[in-house]
This record gives sequence, C-alpha cells and structure tokens, in this order.
Amino acid sequence: MVTVAPVDPAGAAASGAALLRRAWAPPALHYTEAYLRWQLGFPPADGIGAVAVRAEAGSEWVGFAAATPRRVEVAGTPIDAHLVSFVAVAPEARGSGLGHRLYAVLLDRLVAAGAQAVITFGLEGSVGLSLLVRAYEAAGFRTVDLGEYPSLGMVIPRTATAREASPPPGLPASGPADLLASAPTEEQWRHYLTDPRGTRWLGLPDRGTLTGRGGLAVLAERATTRGVEPFACLTNLFGGPFDAADLAILAEGLAGFGPPGTVATLPNPEGLPLEEARSRGLRRLAVNYCGKLFTRPDWTGSLPRLARTTVEVA
Ligand SMILES: CC(C)(COP(=O)(O)OP(=O)(O)OC[C@H]1O[C@@H](n2cnc3c(N)ncnc32)[C@H](O)[C@@H]1OP(=O)(O)O)[C@@H](O)C(=O)NCCC(=O)NCCS
Repeated sequence: MVTVAPVDPAGAAASGAALLRRAWAPPALHYTEAYLRWQLGFPPADGIGAVAVRAEAGSEWVGFAAATPRRVEVAGTPIDAHLVSFVAVAPEARGSGLGHRLYAVLLDRLVAAGAQAVITFGLEGSVGLSLLVRAYEAAGFRTVDLGEYPSLGMVIPRTATAREASPPPGLPASGPADLLASAPTEEQWRHYLTDPRGTRWLGLPDRGTLTGRGGLAVLAERATTRGVEPFACLTNLFGGPFDAADLAILAEGLAGFGPPGTVATLPNPEGLPLEEARSRGLRRLAVNYCGKLFTRPDWTGSLPRLARTTVEVA
C-alpha cells in the first residue's frame, strides 16, 4: 500500500533529491541533496515556510512534491506566494493516481497554513502540466495564465573567457508594472546568494550606472546520457524591460560563467528582446514552459492586466 503524507521539509532533502533524480529522465536538472535543502530552507516573508509531501511504499519513497516561499510583486503590490516544484513520482509507481494524491495533500497543507497564491511552471503539452492544472482546480484554486516561455540556450564557445562579475546589489530592482516579478525581501535575497550551486550577479547599467538591474545566474548541473555536466543558467531577471545592449551583457556574462563547451540556458527570458537573441549566439530550445499563478478562492488581491512573469523556473 502506498501512503501519501506531509513530511518535515528540513529532513526531506536526501530522500526527495534521490527520488527526483530517479523521476526525471535525462536531459534534466541534476537534483542534489544540498540544492534541495537550500530550496526547502527559503525564508518566508509571511511566516509560511516550505511544505513537503511524500508518497511511501513500505519504507521507500515513490513520490515527492514541495512548495517553497517567494515574495513576488505586480505593479508595486507584494504577494507572498509559494513556488510549487519538485513534483515527481517514481517511474514504476506512475499511472495509479499518486500524482493527484500528492497535489491533494500538498495543496490542502498550503491552504490550511494560510498560503494565498502559488506559482508553478510546466512543460507545454506535458502530463505534468495537465495534471497540475486539474489538481489546483480540484482544490478550489483560481487560475491566472502567465504565458508561455520559449527557453533560450547556447553552447559556450571555446574562445569564451571568464569575465568579472559585478557585485550583487543591496536589493535587485523591481520588475515592470505589468509583470509578476521576483521581489525578494532582504532575507530572501541573501538566501538566493547562498545557492550551493554557486551564483553570479550579472549587473546591467542604468543610464551608465550599475543599479539593481540585472540577472542572477547559477552554475547548475544537468543529468545527460553521458553523465552529470555543469551548465550555467540565468534563472532570474530583475528590472526589465531590457534592450539589445542588456541582452549582449547578459549573454557574455553567462558565457563567461560556465565552462567552455558546456551548455548555458535562459529558461524564462521574459522581457528580453528575443529577436536579438540569435545575433548573441542564443538559440530557441525545443522546450516551452507555461507559467501559472493559482490563487485560493478567498484571495482578495487584484492582478491588473497580469499575463507574464519573470519568476524563476525552479
Ligand atoms: C507527472 C507525474 C508526476 C505524474 O505522476 P502519476 O502518478 O503518473 O500521475 P497520476 O497517476 O495521478 O496521473 C495523472 C494524470 O496523468 C495521466 N497520465 C499519467 N501518465 C501518463 C502518460 N504517460 N501519458 C498520458 N497520460 C498520463 C493519467 O491518466 C492521469 O490522468 P487523469 O487525471 O485524466 O486520470 C509523473 O509522470 C512524473 O513524475 N513525471 C516526471 C517528473 C514531472 O514531469 N513532474 C511534473 C513537473 S510539472
């Protein structure tokens, strides 16, 4: 018999990461225990920390799902939301309703804790995306579509040289008014910078001066059929919209971060001038993410004209 129940996030990193590595077929993010512990340790701004759920058969985990807190903002209005990710069922346990059961328990816990809104991403056309949309609706959440994101990527040229990065700002800049953007508290921003995968702030000038505009890149690992490889990933953009000169700085900064010959990606390039990407060596990847914001039925906030987001794809 398989049981599905909440689990203490502080103790979930090792088994959760092992399950995630089993569930995602390469090429995929390589989930380490340190990375998951860091994610599950994100400090909340509203007192509602990470929530984790596991499915267990005997003493073995065969399913996992988690939500971690993030402050986001639209048109100057802060929203303390949770980012739901890490939803996975072991290959041999699929197709018997465990995905639905994991979501039911996770969303029940989030509602009971008082969580207001959830942000999540799914791959266009995937089983995971159709499952999550139905799961939130079944739990009474309302859906706001945050659009589709064409991912960008490049192979870092052998000629690329390591570049000096600018120091992280006090706090990154807020996003354009019509976007749902990351707006971390000071404590959350400090947490971003302790990502165990290694971070780099790629600062962008604003009228010649470096401010909080820019991107946060991480040196992540991906599982491929050849083994585990490093890859640079621009996870978060702050302070758009961005122009062609900004794109050039970000692309060069990313190329100067990862090892030459490896892949670098921008999984959510919202706000960047995509028509300029090719001239900077960036190509569209065969991966489109769909962003969703789910609000609980009694949520009283308003979301004017909101249809896009720069929040990171975790
Ligand atoms: C997505 C995932 C969690 C689903 O887990 P699961 O336990 O098989 O899910 P369920 O049994 O609850 O099935 C959910 C729905 O998907 C359908 N489904 C499951 N596997 C399917 C497949 N291979 N092809 C088509 N539909 C499928 C089920 O029929 C069910 O539909 P229904 O609600 O209409 O009955 C699992 O496939 C997985 O871990 N995939 C890899 C990681 C991943 O993609 N995570 C989600 C990121 S958004």
